[in-house]
Amino acid sequence: MIGLDIPDKTHDESKQGEALMLDKSPMVKNGRKLYIESYGCAMNFSDSEIVASILSDNGFETTTDFKNADVIFINTCSIRENAEVRVRNRLKEFKVAKGKNPGMVVGVLGCMAERLKSKFLEEEKLVDVVVGPDAYRDLPNLIEQVDSGQKAVNVLLSREETYADVTPVRLNSNGINAFVSIMRGCDNMCSFCVVPFTRGRERSRDAHSIIKECTDLFSEGYREVTLLGQNVDSYKWADEQTMEHVNFARLLELTALVHPDLRVRFSTSHPKDITDEVLHTIAKYDNICNYIHLPVQSGNSRILEMMNRTYTREWYIDRIDAIRRIIPECAVSTDVITGFCSETDEEHQDTVSMMDYVKYDYAYMFMYSERPGTLAAKRYADDIPEDVKKTRLQEIVAKQQQYSLHRLQAQIGKVQKVLIEGTSKKSADDYCGRSDQNAMVVFPKDERCKPGQYVNVMAENCTTATIIGKIVD
Ligand code: SAH
Ligand code: SF4
Ligand code: F3S
Repeated sequence: MIGLDIPDKTHDESKQGEALMLDKSPMVKNGRKLYIESYGCAMNFSDSEIVASILSDNGFETTTDFKNADVIFINTCSIRENAEVRVRNRLKEFKVAKGKNPGMVVGVLGCMAERLKSKFLEEEKLVDVVVGPDAYRDLPNLIEQVDSGQKAVNVLLSREETYADVTPVRLNSNGINAFVSIMRGCDNMCSFCVVPFTRGRERSRDAHSIIKECTDLFSEGYREVTLLGQNVDSYKWADEQTMEHVNFARLLELTALVHPDLRVRFSTSHPKDITDEVLHTIAKYDNICNYIHLPVQSGNSRILEMMNRTYTREWYIDRIDAIRRIIPECAVSTDVITGFCSETDEEHQDTVSMMDYVKYDYAYMFMYSERPGTLAAKRYADDIPEDVKKTRLQEIVAKQQQYSLHRLQAQIGKVQKVLIEGTSKKSADDYCGRSDQNAMVVFPKDERCKPGQYVNVMAENCTTATIIGKIVD
């Protein structure tokens, strides 16, 4: 057993459900306000909380109104072309604000900053500072550089940086769910993907600091953590003193042991790396949610090989069968790309049949978007016409809608344990929260309960995305 120190029963139960924010007031304020906006994956949202923490330590306060900000940061995504287009459009709006306040500093952070580097300064004149995902500790210096009239760039990628010692400032938090980064970067080279170029080499964060962060979150009233990494199953870290190794299964277990009332989720699992040991750990602990996001990308082995996913259709099916065998109630979601280079109609039908086989609870589906510099961009022609990509996408979207509906319909009449997250967006009289299997559940408020508490909800009805129910004892 690894000698990680799991505090036992040191949790402050009285804080359960209080929407406390880790609102870290700066020691000495500098009178300047930071506005930060995030695009892309959960990792980017989590990084923005690191950035807010670093700047808070340097005297900045955060604001939710960019027009009143002294520093505007946009934390960007490069995953598909349209993600970059959205950022460019947003920058046009910031340009107007800067026109009225010339002292304003505008910074581009994240994956687009890393991809375009100093080219960004030439392309977008209003941008003052460009900072890649591993250089956030340098932000205070870079802002100083801009204050002295220069433009500033730091896009160095690191093999070590995990920001393990930075306590994130929770932004827009409901005080109940939090993201916890457990690793950074990616060592896979999926041919379509820009992430290895924008995020650098894979590195795992010190397990002690992860468990401490989760323990602190629990005592502040948080009741759910989502462990984040591009490929969580390849998490590996060794304790320098004991030389004991922590793999992802063990990390999941250590997180589950923080407290039985702390729900544990994780994303993203890679089909080539998810082990039976991980599945058995999920099955063993009630508070590790029965939900796995397992991106398939394509159901055809030739396309998977061109994508450099390093698994075949049969391998993926074997992993799904293992999930069904070890965790029969587990929900599974996926990511799919349509119209990858040279994909034929028959090959696309293999993706469709994979969806029939797995009957996913949820899917994120995309048309292939060629990204400059990736292996696919170098090796293969992006030769599937846009309208074909789109027709294939529409076909799988329609199919997924049916399966999402069937999955939720199958829950009708059953009782779900729901963690209340807050008031439903659609009705002030209802609460919303998620089931263990990650389904959104809406139900009438009851004065005996409040956000942050668990309730049993009987599912009475559903749409394709939501279960509608009522609290039962
Ligand atoms: N690390 C995760 C994925 C991160 S990117 C994993 O390996 O599963 C999220 C999703 O975006 C991917 O799963 C893929 O479906 C999609 N994606 C990535 N690059 C893309 C591209 N060039 N075009 C279209 N979709 C892409
Ligand atoms: Fe991209 Fe593949 Fe890494 Fe996921 S595993 S981030 S798709 S290279
Ligand atoms: Fe986008 Fe970067 Fe995440 S490219 S999906 S923000 S790792």
